[in-house]
Amino acid sequence: METKLLTAAESDLLIAADILKKGGNVIIPTETVYGLGADAMNPEAVKNIFKAKGRPVDNPLIVHISSFDMLSGIVSEFPESAKAIADKFWPGPLTIILNKCKNVPYETTGGLETVAVRMPKCKTASRLIELSGIPIAAPSANLSGKPSPTTFRHCIDDMMGRVDAIIDGGDCEIGVESTVVDLSGDKPVLLRPGGITLEQLSEVLGEVDVITSVKEGETPKSPGLKYKHYSPDADVIILSGNIDDVTSYVEKQAAHSKVGVLVFDEFPKFKGAETISLGSIKNPKNATHRLFNALRDMDKLGVTKIFAPEIGSKGVWRAVRNRLYRAAGGKLINLSELKKPYESIENEHKVKKILFVCTGNTCRSPMAEGIFNEICKNRGISAIADSAGIYADGSPASKNAVLAMKELGVDINGRKSRNITDDMIKSADLVLTMSGSHKNALISIFGDSKKIKTLSEFVGEAGDVPDPFGGSMDTYRQCRDSLKALIGKVVDKL
Ligand code: TXA
Ligand code: MG
Repeated sequence: METKLLTAAESDLLIAADILKKGGNVIIPTETVYGLGADAMNPEAVKNIFKAKGRPVDNPLIVHISSFDMLSGIVSEFPESAKAIADKFWPGPLTIILNKCKNVPYETTGGLETVAVRMPKCKTASRLIELSGIPIAAPSANLSGKPSPTTFRHCIDDMMGRVDAIIDGGDCEIGVESTVVDLSGDKPVLLRPGGITLEQLSEVLGEVDVITSVKEGETPKSPGLKYKHYSPDADVIILSGNIDDVTSYVEKQAAHSKVGVLVFDEFPKFKGAETISLGSIKNPKNATHRLFNALRDMDKLGVTKIFAPEIGSKGVWRAVRNRLYRAAGGKLINLSELKKPYESIENEHKVKKILFVCTGNTCRSPMAEGIFNEICKNRGISAIADSAGIYADGSPASKNAVLAMKELGVDINGRKSRNITDDMIKSADLVLTMSGSHKNALISIFGDSKKIKTLSEFVGEAGDVPDPFGGSMDTYRQCRDSLKALIGKVVDKL
């Protein structure tokens, strides 16, 4: 197939609009990443997108619009919550999932009754949609599984000869894909973090869930969640630990193989390793802008492994962290854990190891860990608890959790939240989560296991332990007391 290379000039956009109207496909620059666009209402045109990308057909596409008027043919309703965030963040890097109109083909929505819509800010994208007069379905324009393209060059590298045209719009400003929020259900759910942050969404929408469950055989909330993404040819591995530990680990690896490290300007040098900087540690926007290009450049350098430091999830960092985790397919080495002398505990066969899991590992699970260990100590039972979070970012335990535990005489001050790892699950005898969605999330990430149960389920009760996060001292006390009652029963059962 011949691929036309076009500029963003009006005369070229008219050519591109014509291709789209006739059912062809065109790579379009946007402020997030380049998208591979086709007429969202034309099933045949949409099928060709999947073919060109090699994308699984159950992974739905985002429908791009240039005006609010276009919505009426795409979504069956536009609730107040959607209006509120669209007014604030459109045009921009925000995709909203809503119930679809009958006429949106299932090819576009991957068979779902919901549809993803976004109004891009990029002038070229917006003008092209306007000129063609049709909503444009567009996934990121990479070959499926590769990092999304953020430069014209990336699009040529991946898609030359596979699409009808590519428009050169220069480098994408944001550099990671849009934030995806699902407003089709009872409660807003963040499916993919991006340039619009969870904090910004929560300000408008109130509480936003960030966990999605993907059980075997169940339709995931966002089908894209089941696929490994953004992966360069080299293996990506996240290193958790302080900078000295990271440096010495990387240098040891670099002594016998060609490795790369994604670094920040403030980092010390890594002897023997290739490094690419994501900018200053103070500037997450620079990091999103550079990330995918950095992953692709690492492949050009021919490294076999790419190490990346573990980063937090505040604001825009959540998007960077998410892309790195997904590029790594969850591979993380916890360097500080490697140093912990657990031997004495592990040698004692009778000792049971319990792992409590919640979302951020700053409220419920560290309280549960403290309560469990205190009860076992008092009753002389040889069992030990640890805790972790599904989205933990190294934050200290929340202030009210520390105070509530202090009232029990248990000190959890100074404890830093930790992300759950495969090794933690493996070494635990029993994994107890605070809610059903935590349990589902663990099963979707680490596979089904009889030892993963919700805390209530384990003691034969129903319901979740509600998240006290951000609540008053009394909310925390209530949470602590219900944990204490449940954990007392857990210890009885052991
Ligand atoms: O920034 C972006 O969003 C870029 C540019 C081109 O707009 N597009 C993009 O598309 O990243 P794509 O296809 O690579 O990612 C869309 C994500 C996928 O994870 C998909 O599973 C999810 O959105 N998605 C689309 N429709 C959905 C739906 N109805 N329900 C749940 N998730 C949906
Ligand atoms: Mg994509």
